[in-house]
Order: sequence, then structure tokens, then C-alpha cells
Amino acid sequence: MQGRLTDRVAVVTGAGSGIGLATVRRFAAEGARVVCVDIDAEAGERAAAEVAGEFVACDVADETSVRDLFDGVVERHGRVDVSFHNAGISPPEDDSILETGLDAWERVLRVNTTSVYLCCKHVIGHMRRQGKGSIINTASFVALMGAATSQIAYTASKGGVLAMTRELGVQFAREGIRVNALCPGPVATPLLLELFAADPERAARRLVHVPMGRFGRPEEIAAAVAFLASDDSSFMTAAQFVVDGGITGAYVTPL
Ligand SMILES: NC(=O)c1ccc[n+]([C@@H]2O[C@H](COP(=O)([O-])OP(=O)(O)OC[C@H]3O[C@@H](n4cnc5c(N)ncnc54)[C@H](O)[C@@H]3O)[C@@H](O)[C@H]2O)c1
Repeated sequence: MQGRLTDRVAVVTGAGSGIGLATVRRFAAEGARVVCVDIDAEAGERAAAEVAGEFVACDVADETSVRDLFDGVVERHGRVDVSFHNAGISPPEDDSILETGLDAWERVLRVNTTSVYLCCKHVIGHMRRQGKGSIINTASFVALMGAATSQIAYTASKGGVLAMTRELGVQFAREGIRVNALCPGPVATPLLLELFAADPERAARRLVHVPMGRFGRPEEIAAAVAFLASDDSSFMTAAQFVVDGGITGAYVTPL
């Protein structure tokens, strides 16, 4: 492996599963000291143990916990070079605007968007002192296009992440802090595969829109995160980095 993150201190939220877990593994393979953050202690601890990293239990939607998280990382490791704000939810109660209640709306916005605001707010101070840092915020391809199979709160939450990221990237560009948004297409995480195994028509309805004809793998997203985290992307900030098998570029797809 290339070792593009040798001795860098990298925080990953939502480290226990899916894209977060794949990124923990990739960051470690690139030489980083990985801080694995999750609300699920069992999954987070497992991830950290696998890469000889550190686990921090934290609800990223809670300001005190987030502040303590980053202060603690800097206290113990001396710095924070990379922060991947990836934790997110997409609960079944979030559906069409006609069905989705205010409770689900507020919960999704809180976990998906407010958490990114809090993580950025509390890591940027440390990065300013260092004069360097790379932040990657997870948005989604649904922040860029509309879906008739709506999850209205999720879509709005990711639009918020995208706009916030752009603004932060611009504001801190001259201080050595890069802030980029990652827009993954649909990724075959265990949850998604389970859902689609039970309902193949639902999977087919989505797959027809993917030029590559398949869902992404978490490792393919992690590779993009490693690029954004490393100095290989040193001239990139305030960008939306799309890794989606071609969905956002498609009008019709191959048969
Ligand atoms: N899977 C996809 O198809 C896809 C596509 C585009 C974007 N995304 C985004 O990528 C990110 C990761 O998705 P995934 O599919 O790997 O999800 P996942 O459900 O597999 O993992 C999410 C992790 O976040 C943790 N988490 C949830 N709420 C938390 C909180 N409040 N505080 C701390 N940790 C919390 C969970 O415990 C879990 O370990 C999410 O932001 C998601 O919206 C996913």
C-alpha cells in the first residue's frame, strides 16, 4: 500500500459499519493512526481492534460529546490531520413528504446534518492551530438529483451537507484546511443488500439507473476518501466528489 497517510491522525465517524469501516481499514493500510468513532460501542471497538486504532464512543449529534471527542484526540495524539464525517442514518419512517412526520424529519436532519456542523465546528479550531487539515463530509448523489422513490428528510439532509461543505471549504482555504464533500452513489452495504434481497423489484428499479449496472462496494468509496484525505488531493477544496458508477451523468443507460 502507498502509505499516503503515514503517521497522520485520522478520525472516522460511523466507523463501525459500511463505508466507515472500509475507510478505517483503508486509512490504516495507508499508515494512519485511526480514531474510530461510533454510537455503537461493540461495532466501533471491533473496528478499532482490527487496525490497532482507538475507539471513542460518541453520539455525533450531541455537541458536548463532539467537543470532547476532538479535544480528547488532540490531547492524546497531539493533532488531528484528517476528519471523515460519515455517520448517518436513513430510517424507514423517512419516506414521501406525504407520509414523513416531523419526528423523523428532525431526527434525520439532526444525525445527518447537524452532526456535520458540530464535527466541523469542533475540529476546525484544532486544524487552524496546526495550519493544516483535511475534512471530508459524506453527502450523497441524492444531494444532486431527485428521486421518485423519496426519502425527503435524507435528501434534504445531504443537500445541507453539500452546501455547508462548499462554504467551509471556501472560508478556510487560505488557512491550509481543505473541506470536501463526498457524494457516493448507492453502495452495497449489508443493510441495503438485505433490503433488496427481500424485494428484488426494488433493487431492479434502482439498478436500471446505474450505467455500470451494479451498486458500489464500500472499499471503492473508501479509496476515494483516502484520496481526499491525502496530499494527492492538495489542490481540491469546496468540491463535490462524486463516486457513483455514472448515475449523475446518465440520461439513458446501457441495456
Ligand atoms: N450506503 C449507501 O448506499 C450510501 C450512499 C450515499 C451516501 N451514504 C452515506 O454514507 C454514510 C455511511 O453510510 P453506510 O451505508 O456505511 O451506513 P451504515 O449504517 O452501514 O453505518 C453507519 C454507522 O454510523 C453509526 N452512527 C449512526 N448514528 C450515529 C450517531 N448519532 N453518532 C455516531 N455514530 C452513529 C452507526 O452505528 C453505524 O456504525 C452515511 O452518511 C450515508 O448517508 C451511504
